[in-house]
Amino acid sequence: MDIVLETTDLVAGYLPGVNILNGCNVYVERGELVGIIGPNGAGKSTLLKAIFGQVNIRSGTVSLSGEEITGLKADKLVTKGVGFVPQSNNVFPSLTIEENLQMGTYQKPKTYKERIEFVTNLFPELGKRLKQRAGSLSGGERQMVAMSRALMMNPSLLLLDEPSAGLSPVRQDETFINVAQINRAGVSVMIVEQNARRALQICDRGYVLDQGRDAYSGTGRSLMSDPKVIELYLGTLATDHTATTSTPTQGG
Ligand SMILES: Nc1ncnc2c1ncn2[C@@H]1O[C@H](COP(=O)(O)OP(=O)(O)OP(=O)(O)O)[C@@H](O)[C@H]1O
Ligand SMILES: [Mg+2]
Repeated sequence: MDIVLETTDLVAGYLPGVNILNGCNVYVERGELVGIIGPNGAGKSTLLKAIFGQVNIRSGTVSLSGEEITGLKADKLVTKGVGFVPQSNNVFPSLTIEENLQMGTYQKPKTYKERIEFVTNLFPELGKRLKQRAGSLSGGERQMVAMSRALMMNPSLLLLDEPSAGLSPVRQDETFINVAQINRAGVSVMIVEQNARRALQICDRGYVLDQGRDAYSGTGRSLMSDPKVIELYLGTLATDHTATTSTPTQGG
């Protein structure tokens, strides 16, 4: 297996004596789109922030393509190929789309031309509106700018925190399509989502995070149809109860 990202027994938290991640083991294979779902407060955002050097890691490790990166700071991680799009405040509203994208290459300004070609090929609408202020965009368009800014550094791994949050159903759908498109362009992606069912539809694999642990894992399809996962995390709307191949990873 060609593993891009792996966390091993990750324990992390904000306040002394309070652990939010309680031994979290997840990985992303090269080219994979991996979803992290789970209830509010499960530690999903904390997991992404811990990987991206924004939360104190108390024990355990984070590795990128086999190299340990535990606790490295964000600017270092960006140069090593990790992109992170936080849940909110992820664009500069007073700057234009173009200026936002330029911010994405501040560490490697020479690559600007090549990278802007990449993102405007991926999202042609952006290319047509480079002079527009990011603050005037819809929520879905802002997410596209935020993801594009992260892509400006040519990341091998993109971490996305709830890109569909707060969007109308149509915009949510567009956002999921955009994420799948980024992944198809060769970027490995780890996506945290509230919209669990929709996320699992586009993911190769997923994890259910509960109380800071990876409680279940499996293919998107197997998690979606696992009665336990449905009952505990997806609600009762599911109709397909046939496949049960996801695995409880820490005693369920
Ligand atoms: N900056 C912080 N300082 C202290 N505690 C925090 C901080 N950020 C989050 N927490 C706590 O950590 C726990 C996990 O929060 P986290 O944001 O990781 O959950 P989440 O799974 O992303 O939830 P949501 O679905 O609501 O986004 C919560 O109990 C939260 O109150
Ligand atoms: Mg969160």
